[in-house]
Amino acid sequence: MVALTLITFFGAIICCSWTKSIPNAPTPNIIIMLMDDMGWGDLGVFGQPSKETPNLDAMAAEGMLLPNFYTANPLCSPSRAALLTGRLPIRNGFYTTNAHARNAYTPQEIVGGISKDEILLPQLLKTKGYVSKIVGKWHLGHRPQYLPLKNGFDEWFGSPNCHFGPYNDQSKPNIPVYNNSEIKAENLYTNLLPHDSEGLDFILRQTKAQQPFFLYWAVDATHAPVYASKRFLGKSQRGRYGDAVMELDYSIGQILKWLRTLGIDNNTFVFFTSDNGAAVMSGPNESGSNGPFLCGKETTFEGGMREPAIAWWPGHIKEGSVNFQLANVMDLFTTSLVLAGINPPDDRILDGLDLTPVLLNSSQPIFYYRGNELMAVRLGQYKAHYWTWSNSWEEFKKGINFCPGEEVPNVTTHEQKEHTLQPLIFHLGRDPGEKFPLSVLSKEYQDALSRISAVVQQHKDTLVPGIPQLNMCDIAVMNWAPAGCEKLGKCLKPPESNPWKCDWPH
Ligand SMILES: *[C@@H]1O[C@H](CO)[C@@H](O)[C@H](O)[C@H]1NC(C)=O
Ligand SMILES: *[C@@H]1O[C@H](CO)[C@@H](O)[C@H](O)[C@H]1NC(C)=O
Ligand SMILES: *[C@@H]1O[C@H](CO)[C@@H](O)[C@H](O)[C@H]1NC(C)=O
Ligand SMILES: *[C@@H]1O[C@H](CO)[C@@H](O)[C@H](O)[C@H]1NC(C)=O
Ligand SMILES: *[C@@H]1O[C@H](CO)[C@@H](O)[C@H](O)[C@H]1NC(C)=O
Repeated sequence: MVALTLITFFGAIICCSWTKSIPNAPTPNIIIMLMDDMGWGDLGVFGQPSKETPNLDAMAAEGMLLPNFYTANPLCSPSRAALLTGRLPIRNGFYTTNAHARNAYTPQEIVGGISKDEILLPQLLKTKGYVSKIVGKWHLGHRPQYLPLKNGFDEWFGSPNCHFGPYNDQSKPNIPVYNNSEIKAENLYTNLLPHDSEGLDFILRQTKAQQPFFLYWAVDATHAPVYASKRFLGKSQRGRYGDAVMELDYSIGQILKWLRTLGIDNNTFVFFTSDNGAAVMSGPNESGSNGPFLCGKETTFEGGMREPAIAWWPGHIKEGSVNFQLANVMDLFTTSLVLAGINPPDDRILDGLDLTPVLLNSSQPIFYYRGNELMAVRLGQYKAHYWTWSNSWEEFKKGINFCPGEEVPNVTTHEQKEHTLQPLIFHLGRDPGEKFPLSVLSKEYQDALSRISAVVQQHKDTLVPGIPQLNMCDIAVMNWAPAGCEKLGKCLKPPESNPWKCDWPH
């Protein structure tokens, strides 16, 4: 339980038009696990030889590993502000102009904090009934108006700043630990250790209440001064830093196990990452590994901004997958909104993109229209034909062949064939030539059809056809007298208007 010191947090979700295209999409709970100064190279799955992360490695095996995932800034406060606003620090105000190209954050003496003009993920999630909790480090300003409960979170257990000392020094206050809107213990931040059950307890309460939740688990044990509880001290081969990684990994295992125990694992989207690269300047026992990448925290070399990242959502995200797409913590904002079915704010520029097509391996559908008819729809590798024909017998007999030498019986037909009750489905990966329709009795056919049908239904429900512009023809509208014809003496007199319905043989 001690290990649960880790902070839980939820990702926010933004919705966009794509949202509606996720067939039968549930509104999942969201957990964002944000490590502090943990490096890309700290995970076994990325090659760390000291074997401290069996639970994270298993999480990757059950979910998706994203080797090209980035933070938005090489330092904690701006990175966290970006995650929760979906916007670069240069937009959301988490930067300094005091000097050129300098990192800045929120130490105790900072006056500023998250702007009232920003919209944070939990504020948006609340519009869909989500309850949000942050466990751990906030870092978006510690003055009253900047604290989590003033910015969309319903619950908080943690600290507003880094857990630096000095401790119990008359000249400088200790970093407080808050429980919701009041401080729990004005004391060492390491006092968080016994309260590791905050995240689990929150998950349990929301599950019992059948309440969708966002848990933002922003634990900071791997930030110098690195800490681990007794159970893990001296257990790793990498000094206290490795001990802290082991404890965090253990806690992550506990959280995922808890989701399974409560039967909500397939309804909870969990994303693991870190706020910036490992703080290699802190020395070996106080910092992690950035694997093969150059430098670390505070720099814009790869070691400063490339982050370990794992997406986990059993039954939705393909297990054991690896996706090399470039992605960013700000995408978690937009992606979370999409998952929750919430429209993203359109009054500002967002830098975060919707990752659901990447995570759910559900490429955007392709709609094949011929005139006013939706003939076919492709989703992923499957293409379902609702109508087929090439051209009419009449045209064909005139020698117009749209499919010369490659007729497919019952597919490239010369009558319009309707298949709406039983679409023809092809797998374009194995059968790019659309020659071998799947057997309607196969499970593959049924699975593909049910997914495509949902997309088609969604499409039709929201379709408002425009007024057709290509129906009427009239000789009188031809280019009889184009502008400038007078000067050239080339104007012709248009004939009387005599409109008719145009003839479109194909
Ligand atoms: C935090 O405060 C809540 C009430 O807001 C209380 O129920 C809970 O027991 C407190 N937790 C701790 C660890 O003090
Ligand atoms: C680092 O940790 C190891 C193992 O705990 C210890 O033996 C070593 O003295 C530490 N090094 C420093 C520089 O603190
Ligand atoms: C989770 O799994 C259960 C049992 O298989 C199923 O009934 C439920 O629909 C699933 N929920 C989601 C959101 O996938
Ligand atoms: C999902 O990913 C697999 C590879 O892991 C690929 O073969 C398949 O076509 C993808 N499906 C979709 C719908 O993109
Ligand atoms: C074409 O469809 C008809 C029924 O519409 C069926 O009897 C025939 O077997 C089909 N031909 C092929 C080659 O699939």
